Amino acid sequence: MIRPLALGAVIGLAVSGAMATYFYLQSNGLNEAELETARTLSLATLRAVPADPSNMVADNPAAIALGEALFNEVGLSANGAVSCATCHVESRQFQDDLALSKGIGTTSRRAMPLRGVGHALWLFWDGRKDSLWAQALGPLESAVEHGFTRSEVAGYIAAHYREPYENLFGPLPAQNTNPASPLGTAAQQAAWAALSAEQQDQINRIFANTGKAIAAFERTLLPLENRFDRYVSALLAGQAPTGEAALTQLEIDGFKIFAGKGACVNCHNGPRLTDEFFHNTGVASPQNPVVDFGRLEALAQVEADEFNCLGPYSDAAPAQCGTLRFMSRGEHLFERAFKSPSLRGVADRPPYMHAGQLATLPLVIEHYNRAMPSISGHTELEPLGLTTEEKAALLAFLKVL
Ligand code: HEC
Ligand code: HEC
Repeated sequence: MIRPLALGAVIGLAVSGAMATYFYLQSNGLNEAELETARTLSLATLRAVPADPSNMVADNPAAIALGEALFNEVGLSANGAVSCATCHVESRQFQDDLALSKGIGTTSRRAMPLRGVGHALWLFWDGRKDSLWAQALGPLESAVEHGFTRSEVAGYIAAHYREPYENLFGPLPAQNTNPASPLGTAAQQAAWAALSAEQQDQINRIFANTGKAIAAFERTLLPLENRFDRYVSALLAGQAPTGEAALTQLEIDGFKIFAGKGACVNCHNGPRLTDEFFHNTGVASPQNPVVDFGRLEALAQVEADEFNCLGPYSDAAPAQCGTLRFMSRGEHLFERAFKSPSLRGVADRPPYMHAGQLATLPLVIEHYNRAMPSISGHTELEPLGLTTEEKAALLAFLKVL
């Protein structure tokens, strides 16, 4: 039983804490609704990484260790020099600072930072993959990224990672390491077609398991605490934010625009500052004249993917594949729609947008302020009419993240 005196002291503390927060909010002009929005954007509301029933080893420590080694393995590439870490550099928020990434060749989009990616519903700017493990298979066979083939991946695993692989997934069948893939060059496709259905299935299984180990590692890459998280934690604990937890008045004004006049929270919400969804925001094409239709084209791709949640290499029961089965198909919405990126750490990783089209954050703010029409499909944005001071405040807030 709690003694009355102690209970009184606890209530007294809680009340004086609430008062400190109250006076702080009053003096900085934050209202209750803004405090509630701030709470929903802070790491305090981040839930555990959701289970992935399509990946049996998603949280297996041995798979995490194998996945980390494979993530950094340059042997899984055509020239022996490209790994996932080439374009996803740990010290750079797991991205590469380039508008278009460079592996064996040059990609047509910007590399995405990976912290918090275990929470993503769809992968890539257009969401053409429905799990982290299926995503990892894409770059391995992309001619401009690793430039490898799935048969070579299987051969490399058998030669260099046999023991950790077999401990997790069971005995490896004998390997034919001729470059063969249904997605490769004409010669690689012919080599693939020449294999028996059983050989193809064995290779696909090793390939999928390679992705599952890499995914297990990626699930451990969690978002880091930023100044905004410390600020909100202090307020929620009933303390006036000071020192490390303090924000300047300009930064607080910027948050209010982010949550209010700027309507940024319509799409950049939750503790990762993304709604995990796709929007056309009228971002122009890069110099490259090829029009990228974004999510519109990805709908059919994710559905046809043999490595999706409903496919033969998934460990999930069909009932566990709700994200894929009930995916939104509003085609008119998805022309040139791209995934809202997380804004955590955003000030430290220019250039911005799906092909690095905007070099700086002031240019991004100007893009939202003007809301230009889209080169195809329709932008969801409306001009904001921000003043010079409001733009400066918004910029200051983005730097806090
Ligand atoms: C040549 C550079 C390059 C290499 C190598 C590379 N990536 Fe990427 N990564 C990218 C680019 C560019 C994108 C965005 C591509 C797109 O949307 O089409 C991306 C996107 C991703 C995403 C999606 C993140 C999200 O939020 O949706 C994940 C996860 C990822 N890569 C993991 C990996 C893994 C795992 C490997 C190694 C097997 C790898 N990447 C190899 C450049 C690279
Ligand atoms: C309608 C949804 C929507 C709204 C509203 C919105 N964003 Fe975005 N945001 C996106 C999408 C989608 C992208 C990626 C667009 C692309 O690459 O084509 C993006 C990209 C960004 C980026 C680039 C991040 C990166 O890693 O490249 C920044 C910064 C950003 N938004 C900030 C803001 C700010 C600030 C506001 C409010 C003024 C805002 N956004 C409002 C959806 C939205």
